[in-house]
Amino acid sequence: MDSLLDKIYSLSQEERDDCRKHVMLGGGTPGPTMVKGKGIRLQDVDGKSYIDCTSQSWAMYLGFSHPEIVGIIKDHAENLTHIHQGFDTLTRLYLAREISRICPPGFNRVSFTVGGGPAIEAAMKVAFLNRPGTQAFISQYDSYHGTTLTAMSASWHSTKASGSYMGGSHFLPLLMNFARFPNPYLLRLPIPGKHEYPDVACAEVLRTIIERGINGPPTAVIVEPLQASAGQIPATKAYLQKVREICDEYGAILIFDEIQTLCRIGRFTAAEYYGVDPDIIVFGKGLGGGLPLACIVIRDGLKGFGHDVQELHTFASPTLSHVTSAKMIEIVRRDNLLENTRRIGAYIAKNVESMRDEFPEVAETRQAGLHIGVEFARPDAALTPMPAECVAIRDAAIKRGCIFGLGGVRKQVLKIKPPLITTQNEADTILSIFHDCAAEILRAGKPRAAASSRKDNAEMATVK
Ligand SMILES: Cc1ncc(COP(=O)(O)O)c(C=O)c1O
Repeated sequence: MDSLLDKIYSLSQEERDDCRKHVMLGGGTPGPTMVKGKGIRLQDVDGKSYIDCTSQSWAMYLGFSHPEIVGIIKDHAENLTHIHQGFDTLTRLYLAREISRICPPGFNRVSFTVGGGPAIEAAMKVAFLNRPGTQAFISQYDSYHGTTLTAMSASWHSTKASGSYMGGSHFLPLLMNFARFPNPYLLRLPIPGKHEYPDVACAEVLRTIIERGINGPPTAVIVEPLQASAGQIPATKAYLQKVREICDEYGAILIFDEIQTLCRIGRFTAAEYYGVDPDIIVFGKGLGGGLPLACIVIRDGLKGFGHDVQELHTFASPTLSHVTSAKMIEIVRRDNLLENTRRIGAYIAKNVESMRDEFPEVAETRQAGLHIGVEFARPDAALTPMPAECVAIRDAAIKRGCIFGLGGVRKQVLKIKPPLITTQNEADTILSIFHDCAAEILRAGKPRAAASSRKDNAEMATVK
């Protein structure tokens, strides 16, 4: 190992505290200091091992230190590490074609960029290019699209839409005005009244917003086909079909933010999963096979970027990320990881559901692939959200060596989103820890003996 790495990885607690004074953070749920990862496990600086059901911002599809990803990084770094976007690289050419191949037919042009927020903005730019003279973007209630100023404008963090101000509200003078329409949150319907098809009724509000709630014709509608930060709220096919229909009627470009759904939904794209095509697809997070990469893919017939500095970033063509991305796609195909994602996701959700007799506070388990959200609420008529208990279960799980995520605008949803390589044995461990923590927090009783004595759970072997 390089001597600098030796030095870094042997920092004492005192030195770490000193270094920490120099770090400024703008968000993210705090967690332990991690030093190592293998498979779906991470190891912290004290040697404690954790199953990571957050896949580190849901992005590490192949887990940590996947040997083939490590191998291709080493091989390619010997060759090239960075080339500016103006020059072609063989890696970009190859990957652009691979990405179009995982998209629905007719999505053939890819523009790469540095992260999810910038990719959302790239999609908005393409929408502007195709709808000159318009200036109205519409997103969903409780959506999250990033924290660059424009992506933040589209997200609930910047608004009072969620019922409370978040950090983004400090930047209101620089944010754009986004109109919003209801998300298909069927457990807590965001529109009044009873409806035969509540999902379609939510989508129908988009028509009213376009006709009466914006200035001029619409530019684009941005949709998360499965809302992640909002609390793991999957769309329905009927909802997306209605949104598509309304966009066509009024000439709005439809953008799918697939930054979290790529592969994790159990198909390459949510467009494929739902059978509804947008005009622009945005990918990020897991796209890079563990390294930073994002992109947009646009439908044939749309005007793309010109060469006059419409979209230019120093690191927008990261050749190392291109090869890890292409390798990730190859491995997902070869190892049938989409099938594994569907199977393990359904298995976890079914078993969480089966605990509802014991924990009636599980108001709903929402699942599509390895997108799983467990919403906690008092079993009363109002389904009063239980954020404190949800956070406490997350904290208890960290003590037991499992990291769950938090979501929902009140943090009332526990997210279970491990890497796509998760095995059934590992899923059993996750379920066992979930059960024990729910029992500890909700019942203040002893964990079920059978669950807590499971071998894999008890072992918690350190990461090798
Ligand atoms: C649906 C969605 N869109 C956009 C983003 C922003 O991506 P990034 O954090 O890479 O800017 C995120 C990040 O969590 C996301 O979940």
